[in-house]
Amino acid sequence: MSDHLFIRACFREPVERTPVWLMRQAGRYMAEYHEFREKYTFLEMCKKPKVAAEITLQPVRALGVDAAILFSDILVPVEAMGMKVDFMENLGPKLHKPVRTPEDVEALEIPEPEEKMPFVLEAIKLIKEKLSGELPLIGFSGAPFTLASYMIEGGGSRDFRYTKEMMFSQPETFAFLMKKIGRTVVKYLNAQIKAGVDAIQIFDSWVGCLAPEDYSEHVINHTSEIISGLNGKGEVPVIQFVNQASTFLELASKAGGDVIGIDWRITLDEAWKKIGYDKSIQGNLDPVVLFAPQYMIESKVRGILEQAGGRDGHIFNLGHGVHRDTPVENVKIMVKTVKEFSKRM
Ligand code: CP3
Repeated sequence: MSDHLFIRACFREPVERTPVWLMRQAGRYMAEYHEFREKYTFLEMCKKPKVAAEITLQPVRALGVDAAILFSDILVPVEAMGMKVDFMENLGPKLHKPVRTPEDVEALEIPEPEEKMPFVLEAIKLIKEKLSGELPLIGFSGAPFTLASYMIEGGGSRDFRYTKEMMFSQPETFAFLMKKIGRTVVKYLNAQIKAGVDAIQIFDSWVGCLAPEDYSEHVINHTSEIISGLNGKGEVPVIQFVNQASTFLELASKAGGDVIGIDWRITLDEAWKKIGYDKSIQGNLDPVVLFAPQYMIESKVRGILEQAGGRDGHIFNLGHGVHRDTPVENVKIMVKTVKEFSKRM
């Protein structure tokens, strides 16, 4: 049995206070990040294990969070599948030659992580050494729908027009793509587990654009196949983060995972009721609260902890990634409030 607060909470074991970390906790809101970023492109930073390890540890040292998350990106395995990926300054990711036809899907490969992404596995080993058992390390992947949407759109999207068009007009092609992504993700996550990560988070950042019936018909099986294909059951907890899915949380939580990560568009207690108390829950502060005055941050954090009501299995987090201009001082206030208030409860 793990003695990390975070891992225990993932398995709904009793904890003396609520564990806390932040999605995208390493990044541009930290001055230390910019020191590296001036020297390298974002992808270079992901591909240099020593740099990736160092950046992973920056928020751990600065903030007092209860878990580290591997510094990388959900699009790293997409590049390994054969697409050309660029991170454009202030524009987000761009994927060249988006996937639109059966031939496009056919041309994608299912990469061996050890061959195509050895730098990720190397970074994990380095980070684990540096953490020397004091904190757990979270590995991650994008969920099939979120990855498919980047691959089909060629980047971020507001309406996911091409993704849904393929889903509705060429369902076999869409399913073929989702299968290939699924097989890639299972191999990739199992390689991360073998390299030493203590937990896994699957980011389904854009799944909330779907109608519940389309999620049921075209997506849920692919996500649940990944989760059931992971090694380390009962030891390496799986967090399934589903963004903007509060209208179909019951359904999404059926895809699996020990923990369901939620956004802030639903109250935590209402969400937990929908997910079921046999699962842990992660969330759910609106990241923009971190731009507010101290009393407001404290009050919003306490509100969420009160909704969790001292029940086992709550991990405090934001409802989505931390914004790039967030004041670091405010993140520290959030972390401190979670620790102190949840202990008192
Ligand atoms: O959480 C962490 O600290 C680990 C690092 C991490 C990054 N991306 C670093 C990053 C993680 C877990 C991700 C996941 C990721 N990447 C997601 C899922 C989480 C979410 O936010 O929904 C998504 C959708 C992506 C795709 C992606 N990568 C986008 C849309 C962008 C551009 C937006 C932005 O913030 O600039 C990235 C780039 C990216 N990924 C940066 C970082 C630190 C910024 C790169 C830079 O320095 O320019």
